[in-house]
Amino acid sequence: MPEEQSARQTSIWAVGGGKGGTGKSFLTSSMATCLALQGKRTILLDADLGGANLHNFFGLIRPRSSLTDFFEKKVPLQEIAVHTGIANLQLITGSIGSLDSESINHAQKQKLFRHVQALDADMILIDLGAGTHINTLDTFLQADKMIVVTVPEITAIENMYQFIKSVYYRKLKSIFKAYDLNTLVQDTWKNRTAHNIRSLKDLINHLKLGSDQICSIFEREMSGFVVHLILNEVRTPKDILVGENLKRVCMNFFGLRVVYSGYTSYDEAVQKNINNKESFMLFNRLSPVVKEIRQITEHIVTQTPFPTPEELFDGRVA
Ligand SMILES: Nc1ncnc2c1ncn2[C@@H]1O[C@H](COP(=O)(O)OP(=O)(O)O)[C@@H](O)[C@H]1O
Ligand SMILES: [Mg+2]
Repeated sequence: MPEEQSARQTSIWAVGGGKGGTGKSFLTSSMATCLALQGKRTILLDADLGGANLHNFFGLIRPRSSLTDFFEKKVPLQEIAVHTGIANLQLITGSIGSLDSESINHAQKQKLFRHVQALDADMILIDLGAGTHINTLDTFLQADKMIVVTVPEITAIENMYQFIKSVYYRKLKSIFKAYDLNTLVQDTWKNRTAHNIRSLKDLINHLKLGSDQICSIFEREMSGFVVHLILNEVRTPKDILVGENLKRVCMNFFGLRVVYSGYTSYDEAVQKNINNKESFMLFNRLSPVVKEIRQITEHIVTQTPFPTPEELFDGRVA
């Protein structure tokens, strides 16, 4: 019964973006709250190893059990999950202290992925730490929805661009390895001048044109490869345009599909709520940010892009 099966399927979202302090944890916890309030059984996984802080967004004290217990004492993930105080929403906290993403080896990483996929939930939202460590990239690549967050500020944008580039390279490398294409890729790149290849996008196009088989490998492997972009702490209408520009740059340089899923405004209540140990989504029902987060969540669930600036500013979208 395919319909019943797909209805039961867990959807995994991962939120990354390179730079720290751009609102990844705030948005992951808020989107998870939004989904849980809609009745979806949701688990938040704090994968910011070494810097786990998601519990703060629910006013919880740091849970005693964390991923450290999963890795070091073999405690099942479901047993580490704690209630957040919001119906349908549980939290698995990241590790505290010695364990950071660099100390997780390949086997541990694979084990974590298997156990995350087996969790009994409708939605699993993974909050990643800053940086482009391969464990962060691989966790991001495991998700059904890959989401990046940035603020409209040059350093954050550069870091996010670097993050997307690293994710893309990591994905390509895994394709080259899986289909035994490494030698062909290296030889083609060595002779790039003769083939008029100037970028990675040109290289991939060249390989695709040269072989129907390689073409179908890339079509198949990259068909679902979409990065969802959220712009946080927007203060002016001009900031909103940053999302559109980033989308274009990723397409032009890598041929990579980035869907602009929306923006959230700057609201000083965010920090106030964290300090007061209150959930932002529950305590600020009138804030525009709550509405924006609901819209973003909806855009990601349905995979519909945020309206373009033309649609927004021409008043074609209410
Ligand atoms: N939309 C926003 N408006 C105002 N402050 C925000 C907003 N989003 C995030 N912040 C502030 O930025 C800080 C860092 O956010 P956080 O989610 O922890 O970033 P990251 O997980 O990317 O390191 C938060 O403590 C919060 O005070
Ligand atoms: Mg964080």
